[in-house]
Amino acid sequence: MEIIIQPSADAASQIAARHIAKLVREKPHAVLGLATGSTPLGMYRELVRMHREQGLDFSSVTTFNLDEYVGLPAEHPASYHAFMGEHFFSQVNVAPDRIHIPDGTTRHVPAFCQRYEEMIREAGGIDLQVLGIGSDGHIGFNEPSSSLASRTRIKTLTAQTRQDNAPFFGKPEDVPLHVITMGVGTIMDARQILLLAFGEKKAQAIADAVEGPITAMNPASILQMHPVAKCIVDESAAARLKRLDYYRWVYDHKPDWQKL
Ligand code: PGA
Repeated sequence: MEIIIQPSADAASQIAARHIAKLVREKPHAVLGLATGSTPLGMYRELVRMHREQGLDFSSVTTFNLDEYVGLPAEHPASYHAFMGEHFFSQVNVAPDRIHIPDGTTRHVPAFCQRYEEMIREAGGIDLQVLGIGSDGHIGFNEPSSSLASRTRIKTLTAQTRQDNAPFFGKPEDVPLHVITMGVGTIMDARQILLLAFGEKKAQAIADAVEGPITAMNPASILQMHPVAKCIVDESAAARLKRLDYYRWVYDHKPDWQKL
C-alpha cells in the first residue's frame, strides 16, 4: 500500500481529487466507485471546483456507490442517494443513467445485490474505488468479521457504526440496522483503490489496516493484498503508524513521472 500523509484533510482531499481527475481525463469512460460519509466531502468539493473552473468532464463516466441504508427512500435526507445528489451529482455532469447507488427500498434484497454485481461487471469493472474507513476498520459497510471474499449483500451495522453515524439521523436508534453494501471481494476487484481517513478517531483503524495482520476483524487490512491501493491520510489519522518516517521518505522521493 502507498501511504500518503498530508498536513490537513483539505490537502489530502485535493490529492484524492487530482487522482480522480487524472483518471477521468485519461479515460473519459472511467467507472468510479464512490463513497459517502464525512470523509470524502472535501474531495467532492474539489472535483466540483475542477468541473466548474477547469471543465473536468464527467459526461461519459459511470459511477457505482458502495452502500445504502435498507429502508430509506432516495428522498430521505440521510440516505446516501440524497448525500450523493447534494454533494456531487447535482453539481457535475455525470449522466443520470450512469449513476448507480444500491436501492435501499428494493423488495428483494438478494436479487438486487446480484444484479448490482452484474451491472458492475457489465460496465467493465470499477477502475477506481474511493473508500473511507470506519473507526472499527469497516470499508463500505463491511463490518468486522465480514468475509474478505464477500460480494454485494445485506449487512447488519454494529452499535459502534450506528453511534458514529447518529449525527446524520439525530440519535443512534434512528440509524437503520441494515444496509446493502458492496462486499470486500467486490471492492478488491477495483483496479485502483483510494482509501481516505482523517482525524484521530481513525488512527487506530488505519494503523491496524496498514501495519497489522490481514484479518476480517479489520476488513480494510485486506487492502494490503491489493496491487494498486493508496491510503491518503492527514497527520492525526497517521499518528499511530509505526513507519511514518519511511512513508514520508517514499512520498518525498517519488520520481517526477509519478507525481501528480
Ligand atoms: P466517515 O465514515 O467518513 O463519516 O467517517 C467513514 C466510513 O464509515 O466508512
